[in-house]
Amino acid sequence: MSVLYELCQEISSCRKCPVLAENRTRVVPGSGAEDADIMLIGEAPGWHEDQQGIPFVGQAGVFLNELISSIGMNREQVYITNVVKCRPPNNRDPLPEEIQTCRTWLNQQIELIQPKIIVTLGRYSLAMFFPGKSIGKVHGTSQIRDDIIYYAMYHPAAALHQQSLRKIIQDDMLRIPSLLNKTGSVSQAEQQPEQLNMFEVQNLE
Ligand code: URA
Repeated sequence: MSVLYELCQEISSCRKCPVLAENRTRVVPGSGAEDADIMLIGEAPGWHEDQQGIPFVGQAGVFLNELISSIGMNREQVYITNVVKCRPPNNRDPLPEEIQTCRTWLNQQIELIQPKIIVTLGRYSLAMFFPGKSIGKVHGTSQIRDDIIYYAMYHPAAALHQQSLRKIIQDDMLRIPSLLNKTGSVSQAEQQPEQLNMFEVQNLE
């Protein structure tokens, strides 16, 4: 049994947020390759995810699968998880204290998987790593921090509500392979920041 598997077991029995623990059907720790180069981080499970215990299996997940296959990969080759591992009741937004509490799980997942690229899906995921950044401004751009490339994208569900975002999201996804190539070594990318479409440098902590 891997350490990540054991961590996910631990996450599955978490009751740190009483309201989430009481209202959920299943915890949704994450799924995919334990040594994935690409980690995609969404917001929180929805109804379908809560039923199945697997991230992105509803309508947004169908689009996410399409996006992943557009770069010649499948969901078993990446790692998919969320900022918050339990479905907030009535699909409400996750609360700041829930995000904060759940962060320790996400941090441990990142530590174990050591992805080359973290793709933030939507504003909650972006805000976790780059508070104050606007998704409308930074989507499709990246920034290196602690040897990981962070790449901001709109949440796939955004395309379900706003058709005009679909192509933007598809185009942003298609930039990932070239980013991944640049990580031959991330330090190489660090030496050539002008070749990456970076967030403003002052936002590096
Ligand atoms: N939306 C998310 O942010 N995560 C899921 O797992 C499903 C929908």
